[in-house]
Amino acid sequence: MNYQSARFLTSAPTLAQCPSDDGAEVAFAGRSNAGKSSAINTLTRQKALARTSRTPGRTQLINFFTLGDDMTRRLVDLPGYGYAKVPEAVKLEWQRHLAEYLHGRGSLRGLVLVMDVRHPLTEFDQTLLGWADDQDMPVHILLTKADKLKSGAAKNALQQVRNRLREWEDLVTIQLFSSLKREGVDEACARLDGWLAD
Ligand code: GTP
Ligand code: MG
Repeated sequence: MNYQSARFLTSAPTLAQCPSDDGAEVAFAGRSNAGKSSAINTLTRQKALARTSRTPGRTQLINFFTLGDDMTRRLVDLPGYGYAKVPEAVKLEWQRHLAEYLHGRGSLRGLVLVMDVRHPLTEFDQTLLGWADDQDMPVHILLTKADKLKSGAAKNALQQVRNRLREWEDLVTIQLFSSLKREGVDEACARLDGWLAD
């Protein structure tokens, strides 16, 4: 798949407003500020395709990017969850939209779950893994910001997450990733290729 050809398609606040549900898409989910939008920019080799920010909660809509011109292959940047400053009612509302999207989107082929390697498997990360498991939706975990740890510590973190998710090893793959250092790009693209090929 030619990820460099990615272009912004549209933003949607809810499932009902998403673009036509055909072809195949891969969605990036994860805690607010984990590095989802940065990962999309890294994989597509574009600096500012998905908007990134130091301020958590930057991405508040479901953002769609097409790969190539035919609209049938898409990357999806989901809003982050768990941002402390958002009122509880807004958090619950967004969790409902996320559940609706995951359960209702027929073209969704796989979920990229982005987790800061220093803070993996938050409570809602685990909820999301449960939802994915309910529908046999494959998940690829990016343990990102790996550049923040020494190589040995990063490998340990990877091993610990693998051990904790052993029961889901048929559905879940896990790797280290760094947008800053562009590490793990080939491995991630290979997994996405498997989902987006027809
Ligand atoms: P929301 O849209 O708020 O949910 O956040 P997000 O998950 O899209 O995070 P985003 O990509 O905006 O990145 C958040 C912050 O982390 C930014 O300051 C990024 O520069 C930084 N960041 C992202 N990836 C990496 C990485 O691999 N290494 C380092 N050192 N910083 C990173
Ligand atoms: Mg974002």
